[in-house]
Amino acid sequence: MVEIIDFKIRPAFTSRGDPTLEAEVIVRGGKGRATSPMGASAGKNEAVHLPKGGPKASIEILVSNRNRIIGIDAGDLKALSDTLKDIDGTEKFENIGAAAAYAITVASAEAEADSRGVPMYEVLIGKEKPTIPYPLGNVLGGGKHAGKGSPDIQEFLVTPLGAPNIVEAIKVNLEVHKKVRSIIEERDPTFTGGKGDEGAWAPKMTDEEAFEVVEKAIDHVSRELGYKIGFGIDMASSSLWENGKYVYRRKGKILTPEEQLAYVEDLVKRYNLIYVEDPFHEEDFESFSELTKKIKDVVIVGDDLFVTNVARLERGIKMNAANGVILKVNQVGTLYDALLFSKLAIDNGYKVIASHRSGDTWDHHLAHIAIGAKAWLIKTGIVGGERMSKLMELCRIWEGLQE
Ligand code: PGA
Ligand code: ZN
Repeated sequence: MVEIIDFKIRPAFTSRGDPTLEAEVIVRGGKGRATSPMGASAGKNEAVHLPKGGPKASIEILVSNRNRIIGIDAGDLKALSDTLKDIDGTEKFENIGAAAAYAITVASAEAEADSRGVPMYEVLIGKEKPTIPYPLGNVLGGGKHAGKGSPDIQEFLVTPLGAPNIVEAIKVNLEVHKKVRSIIEERDPTFTGGKGDEGAWAPKMTDEEAFEVVEKAIDHVSRELGYKIGFGIDMASSSLWENGKYVYRRKGKILTPEEQLAYVEDLVKRYNLIYVEDPFHEEDFESFSELTKKIKDVVIVGDDLFVTNVARLERGIKMNAANGVILKVNQVGTLYDALLFSKLAIDNGYKVIASHRSGDTWDHHLAHIAIGAKAWLIKTGIVGGERMSKLMELCRIWEGLQE
């Protein structure tokens, strides 16, 4: 047992410049530090990022309860999760904020690992052989992550299915990202090189044009490098949902839920998509279920639908609502709850995609969390320090496994 002997919590900022929290957990012979990311197209059923009083209010509560946190076994993720929930006293971390729950629980797992001299993922899966997930990254996008005139669909994603290892996989995604820029520039010589929050290009373009650009880039890089590259999208449909319809502003089109279903089916066929995230808004389990029944060999993923929440996933499983889940620790708050969620998903044949947030931090922990959650893919963007930190940590872990 490695007891928490001290902890610190301080205000911090995400890559988008929004307030968040950073925690340091100190144990005998080790320490951990973690900073919470923050979403922009956050689901309405997610835990609350920060309390109404901001970082200051959260810090005050935690400091006045420090004696309840000190003394907990840093590796006992459940005990820490239970204590934080108890201190908070609400269902959705309205008093201390999910940012605090994320930072303290992740820092604690790291402190435990540090004191034992093992990689953090080992605290999560023990001596089991780790599997390195492949990267899924957005090369082009719009929606809530970019400015006016960019596509309505939030993310156009690629994953290098055929790459032999993580280093090569990262290179493939970078090549597609570069190629997308050059194709955009051919079509629009006035393109400024603008990017959205996660580093994907954000050109003035309709969804249809974006599909063509990314398809062309994938074909080109795939032929050049000889690897199969998968094409996917995150429609983040809750952001499109207004008064019972899906509103595509850029395109000037409004779809009923039935039309949305037909549209998604058509996109999957037309562009050979292997991955579709949030094709419907966050309460429409029924349409998810219909789509999952209709199309095979495509991973249908719930992000805002499940919000890393066990109860919502149980409902989804009963209805066959999807076959993939996004795992974002800060959607639920504690690392312990997120791991329960991934176990439930995997036990029911769902694929897990461990994901960053659009406002992220320099932290690399997502690499370990993805391994700990037995993720199929890690969704963490392609460029930018806060994205590269996770990818580089995967490279280090992979290197360690070769030795
Ligand atoms: P968010 O978006 O981090 O802004 O919520 C990411 C996503 O929808 O997958
Ligand atoms: Zn999403």
